[in-house]
Amino acid sequence: MSTYRIATIPGDGIGVDVTAEAVKVVDAVLPGVEWTEFDWSCEQYLRTGAMMPPDGVRQLAGFDAILLGAVGFPGVPDHISLWGLLIPLRRAFGQYVNLRPVRLLPGTESALRGRTADDLDILIVRENSEGEYSELGGTHNPGRPEEFVLQESVFTRVGCERIIRYAFERARERHRRLCSATKSNGLIHSMPYWDSIFESVATEYPDVETRQMHVDALAAEIVLHPERLDVIVGSNLFGDILSDLAAAVTGGLGLAPSGNINPAGDAPSMFEAVHGSAPDIAGQGIANPVAQILAAAMMLEQLGERDAAAAVDRAVCEILAEGDVRTPDLDGTGTTTELGTAIAKRATELAGN
Ligand code: NAI
Ligand code: MG
Repeated sequence: MSTYRIATIPGDGIGVDVTAEAVKVVDAVLPGVEWTEFDWSCEQYLRTGAMMPPDGVRQLAGFDAILLGAVGFPGVPDHISLWGLLIPLRRAFGQYVNLRPVRLLPGTESALRGRTADDLDILIVRENSEGEYSELGGTHNPGRPEEFVLQESVFTRVGCERIIRYAFERARERHRRLCSATKSNGLIHSMPYWDSIFESVATEYPDVETRQMHVDALAAEIVLHPERLDVIVGSNLFGDILSDLAAAVTGGLGLAPSGNINPAGDAPSMFEAVHGSAPDIAGQGIANPVAQILAAAMMLEQLGERDAAAAVDRAVCEILAEGDVRTPDLDGTGTTTELGTAIAKRATELAGN
């Protein structure tokens, strides 16, 4: 029996449905987790004027991990849901790594037909606390002909070094190849700085093969030659864009998990699917729960529950490969609950519970 205390924030739209399935699967492999649900969402914002209470960070601080669905809903501007909940939590808890594995799962068809699970297995390490997503800037001379807007980027030495070092460590556990996303030809201050730190950290890892590619060329590489890529490290904006592209290439957002990791372990890490709340299919019970279930597997891995994580991962792969239960995004007619239940049942067998 475990004694983990895990917070869930199901959020909005399909976030609620897929989180329920992920909780079900974790319970199947690791009985006894103590779950606490927080109903922080856009609905709450419309009621109270805030995405979460003023002491939200404090309420979550004592948990071992956080499982987040998705926040965002029509009627509430996206910058409110993002800056009112997600970004403050990532920053308050020192979750400076955004880890995004991109794999072609068995039994799923890539946009790149003919590729197999061996050709596409990439880990994207996205900087998660600074970079292009900054509050510095503003609108000047509003409403006048000389009106202009400034949006500053922040690249600190500490911030760049720690994310790049984290990516080298992950590369060492995989195929020892690391590609850095840059754009030093266009962003002439921040990116040469990022590149110089990449080159200096690289000297500590002579056993890892490195490449630096402009982010536009790297986007094309993911589509054309995914087999050449192992671990990718990128700034906040570049990592965000590349991971949606990579997720689309593997067959859709319904399959792509993500973790906001605090490597120091002095505050909870937070796990979520890459996708959002999908208002277009919300309330229909047809969202694919796999992304959120794989996010829960990443959470188990981070908690040190390797066997439970492996059982979930294998259950997902087997159920997808067999293809009997599939949601509409995978050309099936199954529901969120049917797919979640099938994975939970298989995971229970594999975990020997
Ligand atoms: P989205 O990821 O919610 O949806 C994009 C498309 O993918 C839609 O057609 C949707 O039906 C489909 N899709 C996504 N997840 C799926 C799943 N599990 N199964 C089947 N199909 C799936 O992105 P969109 O539409 O740009 O954003 C919707 C809302 O979600 C916005 O308010 C946005 O701000 C928010 N959002 C929140 C995120 C978070 O909480 N981390 C991340 C991304 C978006
Ligand atoms: Mg995104």
